[in-house]
Amino acid sequence: MYFSKNIGHRDDWYSDAAFGQQQFTGTNPTTITLASSRWIEDFGTAAHSQGRGDMVKLLNSDPENLFVQNHSDFRSIVGLPPNAEISCDGRYGCSSITLFHLESQGKLHPLAIILDYKGSTEESVVIFNRRTTADTPGDEAADWPWRYAKMCAQVSDWFRHELVVHLVYTHLVEEVLIVAANRTLPPSHIVLKLLEPHWKTTLSLNEAARSTLVPKIINEMTAFKDPETYAFIKDAYQRFDWVGSYVPNDLRRRGFPVEKLNDVKYHNYGYARNIARMWEILRKFVGTVLTKTYVGGDAQVAADLSIASFCRQVRSIDGGQLGTFPSIKTLDELIDFVTMCIHIASPQHTAVNYLQQYYQTFVPNKPSALFRPLPQSLAELQGYREKDILDALPSHRSRDWLLMAQVPYLLSMEVAEDSTILHYAATTINSNSTPRVIREAAEAFKYDLQVFAQTVSQYSEELDDQQTPYLVLDPYRTAISILI
Ligand SMILES: [Fe+2]
Repeated sequence: MYFSKNIGHRDDWYSDAAFGQQQFTGTNPTTITLASSRWIEDFGTAAHSQGRGDMVKLLNSDPENLFVQNHSDFRSIVGLPPNAEISCDGRYGCSSITLFHLESQGKLHPLAIILDYKGSTEESVVIFNRRTTADTPGDEAADWPWRYAKMCAQVSDWFRHELVVHLVYTHLVEEVLIVAANRTLPPSHIVLKLLEPHWKTTLSLNEAARSTLVPKIINEMTAFKDPETYAFIKDAYQRFDWVGSYVPNDLRRRGFPVEKLNDVKYHNYGYARNIARMWEILRKFVGTVLTKTYVGGDAQVAADLSIASFCRQVRSIDGGQLGTFPSIKTLDELIDFVTMCIHIASPQHTAVNYLQQYYQTFVPNKPSALFRPLPQSLAELQGYREKDILDALPSHRSRDWLLMAQVPYLLSMEVAEDSTILHYAATTINSNSTPRVIREAAEAFKYDLQVFAQTVSQYSEELDDQQTPYLVLDPYRTAISILI
């Protein structure tokens, strides 16, 4: 495993630039969100009280380009009081918030980090970056308090990424749709025919995740106790917003309107640019098939009793319990729904799964927990040196270190050539067992994916960061389904 490239091979892996870029092209490029006025105010007040007039000025001057990775809600979700320590078996966790400035040339620069939010900024340790902009000179290597703060942000993001973004929002949500579809749609139904190829392996894999991976491995890697983690998973599922998570809706809600993604300001957001284009390609393919099948348009969709029964099954208390799932009554709604199912199973899962090896096998970049209690004051944090960072890593706990390094490696296992989305498109064209309407649409789908492969390379070449290409969504590598 140590022969594969990882971020630790970079001399600047700890830099603000590499940290900022991971919010756009790392393992979790899906939760960076426009900062609300409440957070801007809170950070502004903290900056003022720390005598950071430069930060106050910046926050006031460009509020529409401030973004957050907001993990401040961990305690309230898992049922811990604001002051409680997040810890389990010598592992310590945190509920961090990071404030970023999206600069006009597209660099996402971290400005401040609340290490572990305890109900208010006054009760929490807030540290500001000495470097106000991406161009501000400074010895980043020796700024140990700030490096420690970035590590805390990564620990928090590890938890949200693995348990919510990855496990719940891809594996578990897709499972509900698979089960509901198999309970309600006749085997020959066109929706089932479109989706079946994207549902290979997922149910048995999820069973293994429930019986082994989460209880015996993941739970032993984090600072949360088992019931806390399960509360976190359950809350994420209950709050999953189906329609709000359609790619154009999700990007707009988080402050990245799809029609602006080619602006220079967004050129580093590789995930957004790739996934928005991929959504269009998937939607065109699905739209072609369903428009030719439902020739009666909206009325025919509304009259499809299997679809109505499927939607009820996904929402019902004794079924999927996915409260936000819509009643599908129009052709557009049906096309969006099928597009979303393929999106989650294929490009979305690929984006949040297959970079784990690169970013997480090198443990200091994104540990799943810390091994020393967090500092309780800014003064304590400001005294931190390299040794304090090493002490917070599992240097003396080889089992923890091995789990943190090897689990991401195993989960990033390369997709076999015959399990990619492009292979599916190419072989579907000549597949006798596939309905003709799908076979015919697959021709253009294959072409679009081949062109998209070049777009993926182009977007990667346009990134400021040319040390780590962003090619995970190349259709020659994108998995057809949630395979691992
Ligand atoms: Fe996965």
